[in-house]
Amino acid sequence: MNFLRDADIDPAPLADKRVAILGYGNQGRAQSLNLKDSGTDVVVGLRGGSGSTVEAQASGLATALVEDAVASADVVMMLAPDEIHAALYREIEPHLRQGAALGFSHGLSVRFGFVEPRADLDVFMVAPKGPGTALRSLYREGKGMIALWAVEQDSTGDARGIALAYGRAIGCARAGLIASSFAEEAEADLFNEQAVVWGGVPELLIAGFETLVAGGIAPEVAYLECVGELHLIAELIEARGIAGMKEVISNTAELGALLGGKRIVDESVRKRMAEVLAEVRAGGFAEELRSEEAGGYERLEKARADARSSLIEKTYRRLSGDEPA
Ligand SMILES: NC(=O)c1ccc[n+]([C@@H]2O[C@H](COP(=O)([O-])OP(=O)(O)OC[C@H]3O[C@@H](n4cnc5c(N)ncnc54)[C@H](OP(=O)(O)O)[C@@H]3O)[C@@H](O)[C@H]2O)c1
Repeated sequence: MNFLRDADIDPAPLADKRVAILGYGNQGRAQSLNLKDSGTDVVVGLRGGSGSTVEAQASGLATALVEDAVASADVVMMLAPDEIHAALYREIEPHLRQGAALGFSHGLSVRFGFVEPRADLDVFMVAPKGPGTALRSLYREGKGMIALWAVEQDSTGDARGIALAYGRAIGCARAGLIASSFAEEAEADLFNEQAVVWGGVPELLIAGFETLVAGGIAPEVAYLECVGELHLIAELIEARGIAGMKEVISNTAELGALLGGKRIVDESVRKRMAEVLAEVRAGGFAEELRSEEAGGYERLEKARADARSSLIEKTYRRLSGDEPA
């Protein structure tokens, strides 16, 4: 595996360049602050009247309207939500300098055709594998977050150098930059979101909680068992790997895991996981995302409201002391 760290990477390709960060959300905030602290010339491009302008300026960052930031930059990072990348790219394309570099932190919009970059541009990806809040806090602790990097289009011959120097400047090369591609990153990320950590795991927790409650167990006890222990296993896996985690739990827990795990996650689950991967690759999820945005996020808003009013959330709020017992 091609695994690059700070010492393997020349920072020079970014040294005399100006970077425009479009969007000051989860990733935009973290990446622009890390770039600034690494000595990179950075400007945050925001919409007129954006509420983020004051916050970015208070953090010592230069800000400009999106089109002005783009026109002034050698490297432009698309850090607004993926589903608006098509419209945002149409807006900025006339302002992108000839031979500029266009960067992404997720492969989705290029892999699934939301953005078809102009032929003269360098197109690269540095995709940190975690949220912006952690990207920033790790950087401040002198650490970094692993990222995948890729070049989709190398028009100037400098795309590789810029991508790696960018990954270094946001602190990711302290942990490691892994060579990938827009397609591989997008497909794996979208699969995981649906089938494993962000889709599968929460539904498993809810199903376990509801099974215990239906079996007469108090909601608070069910919550502590099925949800409250999640951070313990996450920390153990992070520190020791899955096999190492199993070695430090009790024999009771280990035998339970051995007998129960494969009974719950059986071949039928793997078959549905393969279906999810095939749908992702065929563009099914990208189309869902496009239509969700076009429909004003109606389905997401309803799901958020339903989740907030569910028994498991009421139980969480009671245990956190946010709601009377
Ligand atoms: N969330 C993560 O931690 C994470 C992790 C890895 C990769 N990524 C990738 O990073 C990228 C950014 O994701 P994110 O979660 O950081 O996004 P986000 O937090 O939802 O981005 C919000 C920002 O985008 C701006 N924005 C929204 N619409 C805009 C428009 N039409 N024109 C200009 N700016 C606009 C918002 O402007 P206002 O301030 O004016 O509202 C805000 O500053 C995505 O490609 C995502 O897949 C994200």
